[in-house]
Amino acid sequence: MDPSWSVPEHVAIVMDGNGRWAQARHLPRVAGHRKGVEALRSCVRHASLRGVKVLTVFAFSSENWKRPGEEVSYLMGLLVRAVKREIAEFKRGGVVVRFVGERAGLSEVVRASIDGAQTQTEAGQGLHLNVCFNYGGRWDIVQAAQSLHERNLDITEQSLEGALALSHAPDPDLVIRTGGEKRISNFLLWQAAYSEFVFSDLLWPDFDGAALDLALEEYARRERRFGKTSSQVQPNAVAAA
Ligand code: FPP
Repeated sequence: MDPSWSVPEHVAIVMDGNGRWAQARHLPRVAGHRKGVEALRSCVRHASLRGVKVLTVFAFSSENWKRPGEEVSYLMGLLVRAVKREIAEFKRGGVVVRFVGERAGLSEVVRASIDGAQTQTEAGQGLHLNVCFNYGGRWDIVQAAQSLHERNLDITEQSLEGALALSHAPDPDLVIRTGGEKRISNFLLWQAAYSEFVFSDLLWPDFDGAALDLALEEYARRERRFGKTSSQVQPNAVAAA
């Protein structure tokens, strides 16, 4: 990658395609999720190497409870096992892990695992990894509005933003979705208002450092206008343009 290219500060990923990856190999769907954890591990390393400061991944949506019971149980167990296995490496690399989503509905074991991971990594100086787990963009907007209402606070863009579950992070500059689908699926509905989107046909377990580089390169070619005109955002634009 050309080192002069602009690297997004915050990358968010919809890790889609685990089930299809497994089915194509005549394996149970959960084998794809297991492989997906490996892809996530290498993506964290690679994003950090490239200078990304915040990585947010969609690991379990509010709607994923509708999946077959065995798959839901597997994903819950996988989270606990993945935390146990990865925590030492996160600490070594200074990765700060935060879980973003609704705690209600999660078992004691899952909650303890989430809390432990957060406490053990909070002093890190490296990449911030937000794992969206039991998360939905609509849930987040509603819980933020409820929390302002309960505190008798006015609802403004600024106050609502501050009450969102991801208020500790800047808005994502780049949202990547793997697996060939081109939809947002209730991910970061508020925060992705001005994100650049890159869609990859790769299934998540096949997404590697080279694929992340391709997405970062595509991002570097985009012109971000935030509602302005192209001439206004050119590097040499005069203030009155
Ligand atoms: C979507 O693929 C993927 C998920 C719902 C789970 C994502 C989880 C991981 C990548 C593992 C990391 C998990 C934890 C717990 C840290 P899909 O199952 O919808 O795939 P399909 O579209 O091919 O069916």
